[in-house]
Amino acid sequence: VTDGDDFDAFERDGWATNSADAYDRVLGLVTRHVIDDLLDAAHVRAGCRVLDVATGPGYVAGRAAERGATVVGVDRSPQMLELARRAYPALRFVEADAESLDGAGDNFDVVVANFLVLHLGHPERAIAAMTRSTAPGGYVAVTAWSPPERARLFGVFGDAVRAAGASVPAAIPAGPDFFRFGDDRELSALLASAGLVDVAVRAIDYLHPIADAAQLWWGMSEGTVRTRALLQLQPEPMRRAIRAEFERALEPYRSAGGGFAVPVSVKLASGRR
Ligand SMILES: C[S@@+](CC[C@H](N)C(=O)[O-])C[C@H]1O[C@@H](n2cnc3c(N)ncnc32)[C@H](O)[C@@H]1O
Repeated sequence: VTDGDDFDAFERDGWATNSADAYDRVLGLVTRHVIDDLLDAAHVRAGCRVLDVATGPGYVAGRAAERGATVVGVDRSPQMLELARRAYPALRFVEADAESLDGAGDNFDVVVANFLVLHLGHPERAIAAMTRSTAPGGYVAVTAWSPPERARLFGVFGDAVRAAGASVPAAIPAGPDFFRFGDDRELSALLASAGLVDVAVRAIDYLHPIADAAQLWWGMSEGTVRTRALLQLQPEPMRRAIRAEFERALEPYRSAGGGFAVPVSVKLASGRR
C-alpha cells in the first residue's frame, strides 16, 4: 500500500460522507464558473459524445447536454450521483472510479474532468484511463486551482490555518499538494504522460462573490474533504482560532455592495489523443 492508496481511500470516504449540499450551494458556484471554457477547450458541440469524469452534482454534464452533446457522467460518490440524477434526470450517470472507466463506454469524442486531478493519489492513472476512453483525434480537458497567491478563495484558508498555528493531524494521509497542478509544467506533464498531444494550459481569473464569511466557512468546513477533516480533528479552541484568522484574511476582499469579492484562478489544460 502506497501513500497514494491511503490518500485515495481517504478521499473516497470523504466525498461519500461530506455535505454534498454544502458543496453544491457554496463551492459548486465557484467550479461552475469555468464550465464553458472547459467545454470550449475540448471543442464540445452538438452531436459530440462527451464523458464527464468526477461529475459531482452534474454541472458539466448538464451544460454539455445543453450544447446538444450526448453525455455520460461518472463519479464514485453515491451522494454526488444522487444530486446529479435529480438535477439532470434525462442524462446517464454511472458510478465508477476515474482510474477504470470501462463501465461508462468508450470512444468518446471528448473526456473532461472539472477539478478532479487535485483529489487523486495517482493522477496519472486517471489521465491514462480518460485517454483510453477517448476516440483517436478526440479531446481531453481538465481543470485545477492556480497557486494560493492567485486562487485566494482557497489561499485565505491556508493562511488562516498557518496564522492560527494549527498542524495537519496525523490521521490525514499524506497526499499530493492541493496546488500541485496550479503549476503549468506539472499540469501539461500530466496530460503528456498519457500520450496526449497539442497540450495547452491557460489561466482563467475571476472574482467570486460571497454573501458573508459564514457561508464560505460552511462550504469549506462541510463541503470539502481535506479541509473538513483538518477542522474536525482540531480541538474546539483551535477551530475557533482558525475561524477568526479566516475572517481576518477575508477582510481585504470586502466589496462595496456588501459581502466579499474573492479572487479565484483556475488552470485549464487540454490535449488531443
Ligand atoms: C471538487 S468535486 C468536482 C465536481 C464537479 N466536477 C464540479 O465541477 O463541481 C470532485 C469530485 O470528484 C469525485 N472524485 C474524486 N475522486 C474520484 C475518483 N477517483 N473517481 C471518480 N470520481 C472521483 C468526487 O466524488 C467529487 O464529486
